[in-house]
Amino acid sequence: MPDDLHTPERDVVSHLPFHATAKDSLWAGLERALDNRTGILFITDDAGILLGQVTLDAMRAAIQKGAHLHAITLGELAASTDTVSSLEPVLDPSGRLTGVVERGDRRGLAIAEPNLSHSEFRNLLDAFLSTWISSGGEYLRSFEERFANRCGAAYGVATSNGTVSLHLAMATLGIGEGDEVIVPDLTFAACANTVMQLGARPVLVDIDPVTWCLSPDTVERAITPRTRAIMPVHLFGRPAPMTEIRALADAHGLFLIEDCAEAPGARYDGRPIGAFSDIASCSFFANKIITTGEGGICVTNDPDMAQRLRMLRDHGMRPERRYWFEEAGFNYRMTNLQASIGCAQLDRMDALIGERREIHQRYVAILQNIPGVGFPPAMDTRSEPVIWFSCVTVPSEARPAIIKACAERRIDLRPFVNSLSSMPAYRRFARKCPISGHVSRTGLHLPTSRMPDARLLASMEAAFRSVLA
Ligand SMILES: Cc1ncc(COP(=O)(O)O)c(C=O)c1O
Repeated sequence: MPDDLHTPERDVVSHLPFHATAKDSLWAGLERALDNRTGILFITDDAGILLGQVTLDAMRAAIQKGAHLHAITLGELAASTDTVSSLEPVLDPSGRLTGVVERGDRRGLAIAEPNLSHSEFRNLLDAFLSTWISSGGEYLRSFEERFANRCGAAYGVATSNGTVSLHLAMATLGIGEGDEVIVPDLTFAACANTVMQLGARPVLVDIDPVTWCLSPDTVERAITPRTRAIMPVHLFGRPAPMTEIRALADAHGLFLIEDCAEAPGARYDGRPIGAFSDIASCSFFANKIITTGEGGICVTNDPDMAQRLRMLRDHGMRPERRYWFEEAGFNYRMTNLQASIGCAQLDRMDALIGERREIHQRYVAILQNIPGVGFPPAMDTRSEPVIWFSCVTVPSEARPAIIKACAERRIDLRPFVNSLSSMPAYRRFARKCPISGHVSRTGLHLPTSRMPDARLLASMEAAFRSVLA
């Protein structure tokens, strides 16, 4: 364990989010432990004297044993606070709980964690109790409509994940054998895989050095008579220049399929991303800006396209004629259970985006003066990015040592995805892609789903300096 973790200063924070009384119910405990995002509650008597602690794990175990059926209170579950945990109670001389201290050495930073509050919990339980647990139900209808609206689209068709939504979008547009789809070289493999699964050819082009996305110039150079579609991916929350790419697609009679998986909430030229394309796709995997566990969606403004998306998502069955299959479709449906979580996440989406931005700003403040550390290039004012993962670039030869130094301090970093052209499965589809290769080799994602406190920030800074300074 590196020495710099054992510095004495520790931030005392308010105990209120971490406090419940012995008389409070198990249900109240569950909700509060979810909302404070530590899963730990300190239990006091009515006078505020500390009696013990209750963890989310202990409450889960109690529920499994049927404790909630006996009107059990948190006081009955309270255990000793001696147990090693990431929080320590601060007491006044009479034993009254007055604050809480994070033990930075116990709690590290995971690269990504879903941010699930009592609202998601209530919705999920409600969906369960409604018995609408498959692919019909009010949450699903509402999620599709509200997410589409956020993207400036009229229709939303929710799917099981953000890979099948790409596949469904292209199948709906009739992309197949002999077609080419222009895809950026730096993206998650699902973008190219789904093109290949349709029998079409992904044409991998380099990213722009500033936006890290497709640029109109590289796209235009890659257009051939076989090109049917362009798939801009808003990498790491950074919008591609959609006005220009839309104009290019229109000039050449091409479809646009936008992959918004990493950037819901971002805007370009004042319009939400997702609003520019024939069909836009998004993912709600647990590491995404909003999550449904697994999940995805296609959004569109075209009513015919929306109808065809729905039909193909549902085995190719005509909606008005049960068991009449128009063509061989898929089962790519989302469940109402997933959508119930998604509805609560949509309510909190702006706050979640704001929190990620603040986390990124904290990292900028501590890392910006370290030699060798860079940040993604600033984009012009037409782009309004969101932060999916906070990103830095470092010299490629230093990257493994930085990952290791942070891991020793329980801070989990991730290298960027490999450029598709660097992998044998895709190399034959690639144009020359020097920029994506360079960005991929030098990029690092920082943990972006939990606010790092001063101690963890100092620890991360020390880790970077131990390698770079
Ligand atoms: C750009 C991009 N497209 C597609 C996907 C696939 O989404 P899912 O994991 O929901 O299938 C991801 C997921 O990581 C992604 O980042």
